[in-house]
Amino acid sequence: KKYNIAVVGATGMVGRTFLKVLEEVKLPAESYTLYASKRSAGKKLTLMGKEYEVKELNENSFDGMDIALFSAGGATSEKFAPIAASKGCLVIDNSSAWRMDPEVPLVVPEVNPEDIKKHKGIIANPNCSTIQAMVALRPLQLKYGIKRIVYSTYQAVSGAGLGGYNDLKNGINGEPPQKFNHPIFSNCLPQIDVFLPNGYTKEEMKMVNETRKILGDDEMKITATTVRVPVFDCHSEAINVELKKPFDLEELRACLEAAPGLVVQDDIDNCIYPMACTAAGTNETYVGRIRRDESIDNGVNLWVVADNIRKGAATNAVQIAQKFIEMEANGEL
Ligand code: A2P
Repeated sequence: KKYNIAVVGATGMVGRTFLKVLEEVKLPAESYTLYASKRSAGKKLTLMGKEYEVKELNENSFDGMDIALFSAGGATSEKFAPIAASKGCLVIDNSSAWRMDPEVPLVVPEVNPEDIKKHKGIIANPNCSTIQAMVALRPLQLKYGIKRIVYSTYQAVSGAGLGGYNDLKNGINGEPPQKFNHPIFSNCLPQIDVFLPNGYTKEEMKMVNETRKILGDDEMKITATTVRVPVFDCHSEAINVELKKPFDLEELRACLEAAPGLVVQDDIDNCIYPMACTAAGTNETYVGRIRRDESIDNGVNLWVVADNIRKGAATNAVQIAQKFIEMEANGEL
């Protein structure tokens, strides 16, 4: 079978990365159609050496489409994802609009691919910070069980779109920020997204709630502090995990080395560990600084880095499409 594939929000930061990843992955596509808002209609974008004219998204955009990759903001997803689904087009949505809907699977293909089978027309792509954490934590959950997680993130400005990028770039010359509330150049902002009544930010609660949903454990104890740092690309995360069972550190390392989509970079004698500058532009998740938390029983500390626009958004969504196509071909859906 060949698929008619739509990209919604093709002109955006994640949308343009969709095009790059699609070029690399080469899905069995019959056609590609690129959509954005009225503002971009007629604009030309290149995919696999071919020029495509961007079309304005409307209610008829999904007629004859099989798969739509959405990254055009929550409001667009809320309105158009059900329209696409009603026409038999599978939506893979990068916004937060559908993630916590009990009817919508929230998928990281290396972690919970079987959840794809439960889809009713929409599959949600998790938050960027959550995705990379899942790739590193799932193997530990399966082998040892997870009692508690403490997340501390160091997140790139690209997560805030082009505006975030510009605030860091222009801040170097002393220009005031436009996107963020405070300067991001030479600064760290302990606020990503808006504050909620419990004093946490929405980003922090996304990590808590999405982790529970993906790992299938509503009771898991999780807390998070998410911080914007003056880095252009790639999110870094310090993750403290309390496991249910005792572990041997070398065995735990081997368990991470065997995990799909995960690369262990952990050679402290040679100062080798994951970094934003080496993860940028790649599709993998990197883990290092693997060490026992000596303050508790069964605790381990990890440093996890991934490209937030690739594995944290575009790559993960394309991998969901790839897995869906594979499952359909195998008659598993
Ligand atoms: P446009 O370029 O026409 O504004 P980003 O997250 O980088 O800001 O990108 C958002 C993407 O979503 C862009 O491609 C943008 O298109 C698209 N978009 C925003 N609003 C709509 C809409 N109402 N219909 C379709 N696409 C939209």
